[in-house]
Amino acid sequence: MLLQVLGTAAGGGVPQWNCACPGCSGARAHPERRRRHASLAVRTGEGRWYIVNATPDIGDQIEAHPALHPGPGPRQTPIAGVVLTDAELDHTLGLARLREADGLDILATAPVRQALDDRLRLGEVLGPYTALTWRELPSHSARPLSGYSPGPDGGDLRISAVPVSGKRPRYAADSPEDDAWVVALRLYDPATGKSAVYAPAVAAWSDALHGAAAEADCVIVDGTFWDDEEPRRTGISSRTATGMGHLPIDGPDGTAGILATLSARCLYTHLNNTNPLVDPAAAQHKRLARLGIEVAEDEMVIEL
Ligand code: MLT
Ligand code: MN
Ligand code: ZN
Repeated sequence: MLLQVLGTAAGGGVPQWNCACPGCSGARAHPERRRRHASLAVRTGEGRWYIVNATPDIGDQIEAHPALHPGPGPRQTPIAGVVLTDAELDHTLGLARLREADGLDILATAPVRQALDDRLRLGEVLGPYTALTWRELPSHSARPLSGYSPGPDGGDLRISAVPVSGKRPRYAADSPEDDAWVVALRLYDPATGKSAVYAPAVAAWSDALHGAAAEADCVIVDGTFWDDEEPRRTGISSRTATGMGHLPIDGPDGTAGILATLSARCLYTHLNNTNPLVDPAAAQHKRLARLGIEVAEDEMVIEL
């Protein structure tokens, strides 16, 4: 299984256009600290790619990765579609950037599709430009990522959604409750028996998520905030990290303590610009290293 990390920042990015916090200013002064919005490209058995979450940076993310470039035909793209873990704007606005596609396969849960269709009117808006084929992300059984039956070489990656939380995006806050608003993805490679879990938005550490993480070889998790008070302390919100729908890394309810118990390779992604981890010299990097936990970096390749 090949996972190409396309970005590791939370909504806003690092730097965020209207932010002069130390993390954003540091990234302006040191371009190597810049992080694009959290996203991942996954290669299918046939060598095509699915992009997990379509961010506002998707055009640059594609250009930065030669494996995602078009060719040899003038409009031949290796990108088959997009998988969505939720309906948040930082994970979906990039869909409009892909409107030049001949067609786009979009895998999402039912409430996510409904929010995009009914609230953002994506189906209506993009319909005149490209053909969207929606597939529901299965939460009970794993299905081939590309939607085709397995080939002779052991076949395609299998994908399933692991329910994480009922957190709705702010623009759809009055939509019906559903435990599939936010999911983690479980990717399983039948050729190697390896699996990965991608959970860039974790409001609650559900039993289902724990089960998938405990079996996985690699787990990539929401690292938006270092500690629960960070959003209030830095003045970006009156809510705590947990109140904003992101379990913090550190502290009694933090995810680091959980990840440290897993046998999987564990990495954090979706870092907010207020997170001290956006500074490579921050002491918090050593704390995580002692627990055997990594911070994902843009351009990182994970091979399982
Ligand atoms: C989140 O991760 O909580 C959202 O992406 C916030 C946002 O709307 O940018
Ligand atoms: Mn986000
Ligand atoms: Zn900032």
